[in-house]
Amino acid sequence: MTDQTPIEALKALEAEAVAASAAVTDLEALEEVRITYLGRKEGRISLILRGLGGMSAEMRPKVGQEANRVKGAVSEALESRERELAGPASELGADLTLPGRSTWGGGLHPITQAVDEIFDIFRDLGFTRARGPEADTEWYNFEALNTPLDHPAADEQDTLYLVDSVLLRSHTSPVQMRTMEKHEPPIRIIAPGWVYRRDTYDATHTPAFMQIEGLVVDEGISFVDFKATLAEFACRYWGPGTQTRFRPSFFPFTEPSAEVDVKRVITRPDGTQEETDWLEIMGAGMVDPAVLENAGYDSERYTGFAFGMGPARIAMLKHGVDDLRTFFENDVRFLAQFGS
Ligand code: PHE
Repeated sequence: MTDQTPIEALKALEAEAVAASAAVTDLEALEEVRITYLGRKEGRISLILRGLGGMSAEMRPKVGQEANRVKGAVSEALESRERELAGPASELGADLTLPGRSTWGGGLHPITQAVDEIFDIFRDLGFTRARGPEADTEWYNFEALNTPLDHPAADEQDTLYLVDSVLLRSHTSPVQMRTMEKHEPPIRIIAPGWVYRRDTYDATHTPAFMQIEGLVVDEGISFVDFKATLAEFACRYWGPGTQTRFRPSFFPFTEPSAEVDVKRVITRPDGTQEETDWLEIMGAGMVDPAVLENAGYDSERYTGFAFGMGPARIAMLKHGVDDLRTFFENDVRFLAQFGS
């Protein structure tokens, strides 16, 4: 130390002070470092400054200048270390090298995903989206669809009436009539939406549920177009090899009517394949001429087909969910399984 020039001594002190402030891990120890080097009375840099008086006139300004520079550099090192130590993470004792916590990401509800996937397929087949009101009249919900009000389907016990002849639609089929009223054929629409029935809430029924209606009307639409369109949809939605079966059924607004079933081929993780049972996925049929006439269409010239399916049921079959209610409980542990 004694054979060091004062300038060398200052430089050594600077290095020491900067290293000391980097090494401390709390604010108290940092304050000690400040006192050791910059303390007014005993600080080691201050002592050198105080010794300036005994130096030669030649040395004095050089040492003075260097001492001021070192003082500034050490103060800066102390301040930046202070900011680091005072940060919120250091107060918590956090390890700043740990990876960040992942944040919650929202996702689409599995039923919404099913609606979107089903719509995307029909859009590729040339369909457009249509919509109608959830509160509708007896005319659109029943009578226009060839369903007299004394028909069992129009039973007040099953339908949620708002006032007199206004009700919450019990299916999306009223959108058929609302679309035909406004547009001339050709018509190719898909109409998803909420429908309401006076049902008990159980594993397979909810009083409010989604339906997706489809309607095609044009000249020369035949039963072949009907079957081929729905078989094509089934293969695109459930995968190649999906078989489709049309079982005779009855709806007042279609003739003939059918329930459509699919049989899926499931590939197991080990590569072996398995066929499912027949699963019912929709009601459908050729549009009844009486419905076309109600819309003001010439039923000799135009024919068509219609179908209605429940995306919640389709989502249940697709994901192997056995209780419809789990879709509505909004338990994120359940919903998060469906990604988006
Ligand atoms: N609206 C019928 C239902 O809710 C389904 C359907 C739609 C049937 C279109 C035939 C044609 O059950």
